[in-house]
Amino acid sequence: MKKLVLGICSSPRNNSNSEILLNHILKGAGISGHSTEKINLSQSQISPCHACLKCKNSEAIKCALEDDMQEIIEKLIKADCIIFASPIYFFSVSAQMKIFIDRLYCLVDENKKQKMAGKDAVIILTHGHPSSEKSGALIAMAMFKKILNFFEISLIHKMLYSCQMPGEILEQPDILQKAVSIGESL
Ligand SMILES: Cc1cc2nc3c(=O)[nH]c(=O)nc-3n(C[C@H](O)[C@H](O)[C@H](O)COP(=O)(O)O)c2cc1C
Repeated sequence: MKKLVLGICSSPRNNSNSEILLNHILKGAGISGHSTEKINLSQSQISPCHACLKCKNSEAIKCALEDDMQEIIEKLIKADCIIFASPIYFFSVSAQMKIFIDRLYCLVDENKKQKMAGKDAVIILTHGHPSSEKSGALIAMAMFKKILNFFEISLIHKMLYSCQMPGEILEQPDILQKAVSIGESL
């Protein structure tokens, strides 16, 4: 079955390791005939959630904040598989990823969250510390697991790798090939 695979890139830097891994998964998905799309959160206008709760007084999935998140939510709802890619910043995800996650609050409603149920997800986390545990990647992973479980999204793959400098992951062709294989298997 041809799927729609949506990549969410949250690193703000060029030659980002997490984005490189995301690109390789999307490449693999394309090889398997799936449609792919990537959203760069750092190039999108996304305000933090204001907690106005207006989304809770609306039948529609509608956030009161008018920015790029409206279109991104529509893409998330259409996607069969969502790939979340983030660098680890201070034992958590990047600010761009956290702001994006908070804006999913407009989907937090028994009926609305059903729109996300049954999708697949892949998590990519890159961190500078050689140990995934000491880097904080396991803390971010635990957070993603809670969020995916809440939305009834299945975690089908995760890629947690240590790399510090921009593009450093390119020195590990076996990991890049693994990312392509994950994409092909979606
Ligand atoms: C603001 C900032 C905070 C960071 N905090 C951590 C951290 O808590 N743990 C860690 O292992 N690496 C940390 N790093 C290193 C990045 O996770 C690492 O460079 C990673 O490869 C970045 O991914 P990217 O290339 O996709 O942006 C931090 C880097 C920055 C710029």
